[in-house]
Amino acid sequence: MASYEDLFRNNQKWIEQKTSQDAGFFEQLSRDQRPDYLYIGCSDSRVAAEELMGLGPGEVFVHRNVANLVTSIDLNVMSVINYAVRVLKVKHIIVCGHYNCGGVKAAMTPADMGILNPWLRNIRDVYRLHKIELNAIADEHERYNRLIELNVQEQCINIIKTAAVQLSHLQDGYPKVHGWVFDIRSGKIIDLKIDFEKILNDIRDIYDLTKS
Ligand code: CO
Repeated sequence: MASYEDLFRNNQKWIEQKTSQDAGFFEQLSRDQRPDYLYIGCSDSRVAAEELMGLGPGEVFVHRNVANLVTSIDLNVMSVINYAVRVLKVKHIIVCGHYNCGGVKAAMTPADMGILNPWLRNIRDVYRLHKIELNAIADEHERYNRLIELNVQEQCINIIKTAAVQLSHLQDGYPKVHGWVFDIRSGKIIDLKIDFEKILNDIRDIYDLTKS
């Protein structure tokens, strides 16, 4: 593990590495940001957002929280989505969950988690929505993995419920919303192949926010 002092030495090395490759790197970086991607992932230290996608500074707008949740009353994630869509005009929004997610595990545990209760409630609600499918899975670990996937899918739907995404999609044809699971044991990104157009059509009768 790196010591606290190491972090500054690492930073200096990183600056030297970047400027040796491109002397104007930071000058360029300070001008503007025009990322094509918004990434919403878990805070888990093992799921290194930019690194796992091979992206560098300026290429992805990032939001992370416990268990990669998108809830309509969370001013933080809603501000991120609105800014990314309306101002940065990102082309893709990615929700990236991961196997071995402690947040999802906690939500499968019937116990009082204190301050985490209202946050984990969102995942318990995903379980309730998909209770028949989940309870039919006998193996607990398989059920846990499936809840992780379904949680990503539901968060994608929550993004599609926002006015910013609906309006931008209507006007410009983007952003597209994608659901991924990061497999910590192999390092692989698994694309859940969320059918964005179908979900948008399916929920339109209830969640359409494109009219003023
Ligand atoms: Co997690």
